[in-house]
Amino acid sequence: MSQHTKSEKDFSKYFQPPSLTDAKKRGKEDIKVHYDFQIPDEDKELGKDKHYLIQTYGCQMNEHDTETMKGMLEAMGYTGTEDRQEADIILLNTCAIRENAEDKVFGELGHLKTLKLQKPGLILGVCGCMSQEEAVVNRILKKHAFVDIIFGTHNIHRLPSLLKEAYFSKEMVVEVWSKEGDIVENMPKKREGMRAWVNIMYGCDKFCTYCIVPYTRGKERSRRPEDVLAEVRDLARQGFKEITLLGQNVNAYGKDFDDIEYLFGDLMNDIRKIDVPRVRFMTSHPRDFDDHLIEVLGKKGNLMEHIHLPVQSGSTEILKKMSRKYTRERYLELASKIKTVMPDVVLSTDIIVGFPGETDEQFEETMSLVKEVGFDFAFTFIYSPREGTPAAAMEDNVPLEVKKARLQRLNEVIATFSSESNQKLIGQVVEVLVEGESKNDANVLSARTRTNKLIHFVGSRELIGTIVHLRVTEAKTWFLKGELIETPLQKTV
Ligand code: SAH
Ligand code: SF4
Ligand code: F3S
Repeated sequence: MSQHTKSEKDFSKYFQPPSLTDAKKRGKEDIKVHYDFQIPDEDKELGKDKHYLIQTYGCQMNEHDTETMKGMLEAMGYTGTEDRQEADIILLNTCAIRENAEDKVFGELGHLKTLKLQKPGLILGVCGCMSQEEAVVNRILKKHAFVDIIFGTHNIHRLPSLLKEAYFSKEMVVEVWSKEGDIVENMPKKREGMRAWVNIMYGCDKFCTYCIVPYTRGKERSRRPEDVLAEVRDLARQGFKEITLLGQNVNAYGKDFDDIEYLFGDLMNDIRKIDVPRVRFMTSHPRDFDDHLIEVLGKKGNLMEHIHLPVQSGSTEILKKMSRKYTRERYLELASKIKTVMPDVVLSTDIIVGFPGETDEQFEETMSLVKEVGFDFAFTFIYSPREGTPAAAMEDNVPLEVKKARLQRLNEVIATFSSESNQKLIGQVVEVLVEGESKNDANVLSARTRTNKLIHFVGSRELIGTIVHLRVTEAKTWFLKGELIETPLQKTV
């Protein structure tokens, strides 16, 4: 742990940056769950007439952390704003997954320096995954000393205290715990819209060789089933239409419990019985995807027929170098098992191209796997070395031009699959959740199929938030068009 309130001159003497090496050490000690989180009464007026703005980068985990921070700030009396000029606090909730994610944040800090000069009372904070990296914290301390607070992903619950410290001391407040903290329940959360995220676990123990997440998010730790179920029930009561269960590796849920036998399949089986229209989850790791889970998902109902199942590469040798702990064959077997139980499932994936040493032949194996599985969509990335991870030390002899060309070919094949799979839906009736007006045309509504495909149709605004049936009339590469039908006459997908 490193915690220090500094003034410019003394920080080098006392400050210890977060350490990736320490973050890697996984303790055996039990994770404690705290149910006593509270904003002290005397802090509830602190934000009166003041505004906050949080800029969020990265994955759903970060988006959801932002909802927690918003909840805390509003409980302290602050009001949200989108206008930087109006903001009294600006927080950057950062992502460290690839170099370009970090570049964006440093670019932003450059802009914010000007604002800070105009408005010295502004509190500027950096949190999220980048603040867990020692190199980043050191760079901010040296080059962006106008930042007021840096806090880590394990310190979110400390935001109210850190903010107070920053206000009253007017010195940079740095609090980044290298090792994960406990689980803190009952933090206020500001959710908007009809869809809600629910954390089921934190951290990741997989240590894929390219990935920074196990260092920035700490060890895998599951929330107690009763806490997850109570939160989902409460959200259902509040009228949320869709719940997405979150974890870096949801399939490892429950593996850390030593007092009960309760895994992800058990959790899904219990959530299936809660009266909430739609339940999704992300992200699945192929390694822990067990038969019981497949069987439970096959019962459908409020469990949707979409599984995001990152494969990363189609080459067993590259998978081994990535330390993904499954082979090409094992992934294909799993995909086919899922499809047998859920014939109308849609699979999507993440793929990295240009991992150190990836040969043309190995890349072709990724292309052939994509064709064999037939993903409807995929997030594809060029490998980006992350300091401190094992892959960053591997020899990378693939030129950037080659990586770019591979990425382009891969994206083309995925687009073709998406388009073909959408074409097959023409004439079929689909069950959709109407999410809102379409971005480009207020007369058109946007909805999502059970399989998570975007579909537009003409309908009345009153339908927003309801589940209706549409006949698919047109298929584009990345979305569908449909028309409203009164009652489903045909098989629904
Ligand atoms: N926990 C999830 C993924 C989280 S990160 C899982 O294991 O599936 C989201 C995606 O970013 C990963 O699936 C991977 O495809 C990509 N990614 C992670 N580290 C990367 C790196 N160093 N370079 C490029 N892409 C990376
Ligand atoms: Fe990263 Fe692998 Fe963990 Fe996913 S499973 S977060 S890719 S280490
Ligand atoms: Fe980025 Fe951290 Fe998520 S590195 S992808 S914000 S877990």
